[in-house]
Amino acid sequence: MTNDFTTPPAPAASGERIPLPNLRIDICHANADLAETVREASRDRLLSLVSFGYMPGGIGAAIEHFRSAPTPNLIILELDSDRPAEAREALERFADVCDPETKVVVAARTNDVEFYRWLKENGVSDYVLLPAGAGAIIDVLYRLFGVKDGVEGRLTAVMAAKGGAGSSTLCHHLAAACARRTGVPTLLADLDLSFGTAALDFDLTPIRGSAEFLHVAGRAGSDPIEKFVLPAEDNLFVLGSGASLVRTMPITPELVDGALRRFRKSYSYSFVDLPHVWSEWTKNALIHADRAVIVSGTDIASLRNVKSIFQILAEARPRDPALLVLNMTGVRGRQELREQDFKAAAGRNPDLVLRFAPEPFSRAAAEGKLILDTHPRSTESRALVSFLDDLLPGTRTASSLPGPLARMLSRFRT
Ligand SMILES: Nc1ncnc2c1ncn2[C@@H]1O[C@H](COP(=O)(O)OP(=O)(O)OP(=O)(O)O)[C@@H](O)[C@H]1O
Ligand SMILES: [Mg+2]
Repeated sequence: MTNDFTTPPAPAASGERIPLPNLRIDICHANADLAETVREASRDRLLSLVSFGYMPGGIGAAIEHFRSAPTPNLIILELDSDRPAEAREALERFADVCDPETKVVVAARTNDVEFYRWLKENGVSDYVLLPAGAGAIIDVLYRLFGVKDGVEGRLTAVMAAKGGAGSSTLCHHLAAACARRTGVPTLLADLDLSFGTAALDFDLTPIRGSAEFLHVAGRAGSDPIEKFVLPAEDNLFVLGSGASLVRTMPITPELVDGALRRFRKSYSYSFVDLPHVWSEWTKNALIHADRAVIVSGTDIASLRNVKSIFQILAEARPRDPALLVLNMTGVRGRQELREQDFKAAAGRNPDLVLRFAPEPFSRAAAEGKLILDTHPRSTESRALVSFLDDLLPGTRTASSLPGPLARMLSRFRT
């Protein structure tokens, strides 16, 4: 049965959504089931900035409470009665204590189109037919507060499980491969403020880089991001790190959150190169990104770190797990876990395995180039480009060939 509220298209996979902003939502529930469902939804990374309050007792308790307390951004109100006449009477009383700016979603078991119509005519924003799952709650919140499709770009955050695992190398190659393949503006943002190498990898010298941008990103009226980025090649822009050890600055989750929002508003695709640091802001960046990628070696310490990082991310991103890249495998003479043993111990298969290939990677780095250009036909270049299909499936277009040919083809793309 359709209702009069919305006839939404099939809900987007959570990877296509960006986290909701800071909101306060109160759940006035008549039964513990609804509270439990919302609690499950609240653990989703997409709702990590939203705070929830739970109030048992249904609409009667809600009326008493809000008589003297301000109402939040949204109230989800569970009706105690399934009889439309009684529900209408209770909702009319509730309207007297609810601030006009507060949105109200009604949750009930009544499947009656006349009742839906009445709710809509009387200012109720949406309706949840019970019993409902956590996904239905998230869908309602996105209908009310989500950014409309097409306005925001997709953001990928990349971090190493252990320092030096190759996360920056992977992030830079993915950003370039994405820009070449899609032919749309793509950002590579280096948030390793002290030791970042994005500018070096593209032979650029940033003047105002990521540290300066982080300071101003959240402020209204600040300089546009174009004043901070440098063009690296067609459609690829680098927000480099000045890698200054002289001026250090504390990074807060709020500064980074402001920057990530600006990235998404300005570029169709953003790739964020995170330092190997576990802190509130790096954790938040991995949780808030549309795609999170962890790059690891195959030694014991990396295995331990992969397990701990994935445990945290699995709780925060239950619907779109992070991807695992095993890098620099098979170093001759080095003691390391066999790939199968690593997989078994980590409890997950890697999404990409790159063997240790010092010749192409060190030659490219020395020339300020990418292996996509210096070794376009190598196994590593091909593996990196095809990994984009798993990471950002929507990006596959006419050509997935790395290197100059893809760049030439992209000029003909409309
Ligand atoms: N598959 C590979 N084979 C050989 N060398 C590689 C490979 N991947 C990366 N490298 C090299 O390893 C070095 C470290 O890589 P990178 O700087 O990307 O690591 P990182 O994880 O970003 O380190 P950090 O912890 O400092 O951020 C670089 O010199 C890079 O060229
Ligand atoms: Mg790095």
